[in-house]
Amino acid sequence: MNTAPGGPARRIAVIGAGPGGLYFAALAKQLAPDRELTVFERDGREDEFGFGVVFSDETLDGIAEADPRVFAAISAEFARWSDIDIRYAGGVRTSGGHGFAALDRNRLRAVLRQRCEELAVDVRYRTPAPPVERLAAEYDLVVAADGIHSGTRAAWSQAFRPTTDERHCRYIWLATDKVFEAFTFIVERFDFGVLQVHAYPYSTTRSTFIVEIAEDAWRRAGFEALAAREFARGESDGQSVRRCAELLAGHLDGHRLIPNASRWIRFTTVRNASWHHRNVVLLGDAAHSAHFSIGSGTKLALEDALALAAALSEQPTTAEALAAYEAERRPVVESTQRAAQASLEWFETVDRRTGQDIDRFAFNLLTRSRRVTYDNLRARDADFVDAVDTAFGGSPGVPPMFRPLKLGALELRNRVVVPPLATFTSPEALPSAFDRAQLTGHALGGAGLVLAGMTAVTPEGRATDRCPGLWSDHQEAAWRELVRSVRAVSDTPLGIQLTHAGRRGATAPPGPDGIGRPLAEGWPLLAPSAIPWDADSPVPHEANHIQLAAATADFAAAAERAARAGFDVLELQFGHGHLVSSFLSPLTNRRTDHYGGPLAHRLRLPLEVLAAVRAVWPAGKPLLVRISACDWAPGGTTEAEAVAVCRALGEAGADAVDVSTGEVVAHQRPPYGRGYQTPFAELVRAATGLPTVAVGAISGADDADSVLLAGRADLVAVGRAQLYDPLWTLHAAAERGYTGPGVHWPEPWRAGSRKPPGPGTDRVAPRLHLLREPPAPVHRRWSAIPPEE
Ligand SMILES: Cc1cc2nc3c(=O)[nH]c(=O)nc-3n(C[C@H](O)[C@H](O)[C@H](O)COP(=O)(O)OP(=O)(O)OC[C@H]3O[C@@H](n4cnc5c(N)ncnc54)[C@H](O)[C@@H]3O)c2cc1C
Ligand SMILES: Cc1cc2nc3c(=O)[nH]c(=O)nc-3n(C[C@H](O)[C@H](O)[C@H](O)COP(=O)(O)O)c2cc1C
Repeated sequence: MNTAPGGPARRIAVIGAGPGGLYFAALAKQLAPDRELTVFERDGREDEFGFGVVFSDETLDGIAEADPRVFAAISAEFARWSDIDIRYAGGVRTSGGHGFAALDRNRLRAVLRQRCEELAVDVRYRTPAPPVERLAAEYDLVVAADGIHSGTRAAWSQAFRPTTDERHCRYIWLATDKVFEAFTFIVERFDFGVLQVHAYPYSTTRSTFIVEIAEDAWRRAGFEALAAREFARGESDGQSVRRCAELLAGHLDGHRLIPNASRWIRFTTVRNASWHHRNVVLLGDAAHSAHFSIGSGTKLALEDALALAAALSEQPTTAEALAAYEAERRPVVESTQRAAQASLEWFETVDRRTGQDIDRFAFNLLTRSRRVTYDNLRARDADFVDAVDTAFGGSPGVPPMFRPLKLGALELRNRVVVPPLATFTSPEALPSAFDRAQLTGHALGGAGLVLAGMTAVTPEGRATDRCPGLWSDHQEAAWRELVRSVRAVSDTPLGIQLTHAGRRGATAPPGPDGIGRPLAEGWPLLAPSAIPWDADSPVPHEANHIQLAAATADFAAAAERAARAGFDVLELQFGHGHLVSSFLSPLTNRRTDHYGGPLAHRLRLPLEVLAAVRAVWPAGKPLLVRISACDWAPGGTTEAEAVAVCRALGEAGADAVDVSTGEVVAHQRPPYGRGYQTPFAELVRAATGLPTVAVGAISGADDADSVLLAGRADLVAVGRAQLYDPLWTLHAAAERGYTGPGVHWPEPWRAGSRKPPGPGTDRVAPRLHLLREPPAPVHRRWSAIPPEE
């Protein structure tokens, strides 16, 4: 419970004279000179730890405005550049237009320290802060800017409720006297594994040089043995530093690596459920951390300082100021942490991509956090994206999503898929008028492939009492008629997803949470083990071998019917906790016969179903399988298992895998967010060579293009966004001015194939500056010799 005091804070204690603590103290004093500010710092005034810190243009705007004197002082020392170099597989690729500025962390602290002195902030060096309890009693406000290992956070952990996530890679933070000209990523494969470097210049004599390596490769490289002794405070692991210098000599051009208390460590992501308690507030790394690969620790700390100082002036009481500070900063920080998480996972699994050639690898690296995309890379440096486009068989101006793909004998005109989207409009288990309308709409909407929603292979296999089926002649005829009517207006390939819902059957259509509740009067459910979905669900029957053979035969019979109905593509639902999915997951399959236990056994039913379907489904027609590559619950399907499953499915005749996740158990905890399932599509594609469909919160054309060009998937399924706008693909083409063969505007709609003018379309801005500034050059590089002004 927070019980923060009222009234404005006059006496403020700050723990830690890092960039966050000092900048806050200076701003708070500048805004209200009658405040008394005391900063406690355990290290000495002249102690120098750390190397360069790096900023993007955006943060600099905030600093420039908040305190022009600080900004003038630090910008005079900035190394500035706009390029990112990616050194990989013996080559270099450069992407321009990014806008970076860096400086020595110790110079930044010196500037901030001087500003504090000018403003009469009392900064006490070599003075460990008194216990927080005491400070909280003596001061109106205590700002804990005491870094990633914050003692304040630990002392009051019950109030802040921190979580720490220590990651899998090892890294060592170093400098070098080689002055890099750009932000430089080095990814190099050795016999022990992949070594990666994040390097950037921060003065005319130095660059930061962070070496990162996966834990197992770190062991194989012999670093574990070197690091296995006690180091004194401030001591560096000299042997490891020398070994890094040897291994990376080719990138150092005779320059040295310079340690400063440098040892192998593991990055820890810090989060806190609350950032303030009573009159104590966390700021900077004490409150949150974000992986160094997106270079934002100092940026976040300075932004926090700005927001907290502003809130103290804007709000009538300290309590309200602390609440306003957290409300403003938390969403920004969490957004950065999501990007940082995607980025750190990318680097942790970099060896997954080292089969890619340099153009695709460079694009993949740059788009790793999902914040930098195809469109914004193009806006920054069109030549770079054109080169990647061209290297992958495209031509400049043809977005990746509008390139054709051959699946089996079927040529898709573009890479956009409408995934199965059940309509729940079939009380009689027949395709409904709405199914027809939806499929017609999507077929006209421009996607390369449209899939009908889940369709049961047997009456008990229906997920809800409003799902269609394909087990009778009557249903087959109704589907045939539907396909015929769509064909009359569109040649877009149509597919259907076949399923047996297993223990997820006999529910009402899903509510707002996407989960259907059990029907009051349902039907008997079948599952590998007698485990209900949740406490409210009926207990399913453990399927016997006869029932499993029958289910397999039902899938095959429905597949034959789908072929006769005229579908071009078949998708088997082996994910989302349906019958076959429940056999795959160790959380739902507890059998002891040869359908349960090790993965080879859990794969038996899926492979039997696939073989039976493949035998009857026409050879040239694509057969897709949807899987849940992860259960988002402890003890669930592992990445290695997901890969093994897909490999087996590919060998048994699947033409592509539609890589979804979750919905296998009710207690799942997926980290929903843009493109959050895409890394699994990338994993499967890289490990098995099978074409993959990426799906899940991919809603912009820009994201789709990024996924495709980075080689994370071959097709992109866009679900809810195509419910929002069934003409999503046509509109994506119109927005980009694309008119080639990758989309087909229905002839009667051709007059509408250009984006209609909106308000402001005809507005022409007058000249606002006497002399226009020339556009910034795309490529700006840093140089050891200061440029002449
Ligand atoms: C030694 C060191 C070197 C770093 N080097 C780099 C680098 O080269 N490049 C980079 O981008 N980032 C570096 N960082 C991280 C970067 O400084 C932070 O991500 C970012 O600046 C956030 O700043 P902060 O003010 O929140 O925390 P920090 O910069 O970590 O500052 C926290 C300060 O609190 C002090 N402190 C902690 N506990 C107490 C206590 N009980 N009493 C008094 N003082 C206390 C610490 O001595 C430290 O000075 C480094 C951090 C440290 C601590
Ligand atoms: C209304 C609706 C119905 C769905 N029906 C099915 C279905 O029948 N079979 C299936 O595998 N997934 C189904 N899904 C999941 C989607 O195919 C897709 O995987 C999911 O919506 C994530 O993609 P999105 O974020 O682009 O929407 C459905 C989703 C929605 C929103």
